[in-house]
Amino acid sequence: MATIRDVAKQAGVSVATVSRVLNSNGYVNEDTRVKVTEAIKELNYLPNDVARSLFKRRSKMIGLILPDITNPFFPELARAVEDVANETEYTFVLCNSDNQMEKEQQYLTALKQKYIDGFIVVSSTLTTEQVHELNVPVVALDRIISPHMPSVSVQNYEGAQEAVQYLIENGCQKIAHISGPDYVDNAHARKQGYLDMVRDKDWYEDGLVVDGKYELDPAKKAATQLLEQHPDVDGIFVGNDLMAVGVLKAAEALGIKVPEDLSIIGFDGIALGETTTPALTTMGQPIYDVGSKAAELLINYIEGIPSVHSNHSFGVQIIERETVKKGGV
Ligand code: RIB
Repeated sequence: MATIRDVAKQAGVSVATVSRVLNSNGYVNEDTRVKVTEAIKELNYLPNDVARSLFKRRSKMIGLILPDITNPFFPELARAVEDVANETEYTFVLCNSDNQMEKEQQYLTALKQKYIDGFIVVSSTLTTEQVHELNVPVVALDRIISPHMPSVSVQNYEGAQEAVQYLIENGCQKIAHISGPDYVDNAHARKQGYLDMVRDKDWYEDGLVVDGKYELDPAKKAATQLLEQHPDVDGIFVGNDLMAVGVLKAAEALGIKVPEDLSIIGFDGIALGETTTPALTTMGQPIYDVGSKAAELLINYIEGIPSVHSNHSFGVQIIERETVKKGGV
């Protein structure tokens, strides 16, 4: 396989001149450019991307770090990031951190050494200081790291309030909440949105908020305990759709009919919610738009294209399906 030295010898120029032609940087006169280009074709020379990365300290590669690829929300988000990366001829690398700071740091360090051009991170542990130390463009996705960093998220608090209001408008008399982990900023915001809607109700009491950890089985266990201890609960706002599937399983196991006896509304709008029986009513995030906006922000950041706004917050919309009993008070 021909090397850059073979091309230089064939064209009668220095290796540095060939590099300038390959990387389109620095002056090369037209005759020399033609000679080098002909030598590349005659020798079927393929530039070594790693070598180019080393030379340019750029790789045309972006990394996406996600906390839990077993949650269907994240593959839908990743799809959008990948589409934008491909459209702009960036390679896309997907990393799963399992919400572990150590794994997150390993990926960040390893990819930085391969001259990754920038990161999109869904992280509840990365700090502003760590981002500055990375010294490459970073966009926070779904979970905000710092208001001074580019980020893309949704209106979690407002969406939670809208979900609870929807249950109230449809006649629910006692509403509980299955929350995500408190260390995740959007889980905390959704819980706060719920609490600010119900704390003053005469039926509100301790024990109506239980942690489902944003996962199916913990949510099923938490909902079972909640419904056994509070059999008069007739509405549940669930902090994400995966947990809402767990709540549906808990209700089924307890012989509670949805929506006849218990109304359930989730948060996310993942495709899975269309397949449950009954189909899940939820607060839909514009997942594709959120992911593609993050990728667009990062690539503009890498390319030095100024963005008018670097903190984007999308609204969420109710997706009415079958798990909330319709009917006003
Ligand atoms: O379902 C996973 C949750 O984690 C989603 O609500 C999303 O917002 C992410 O934070």
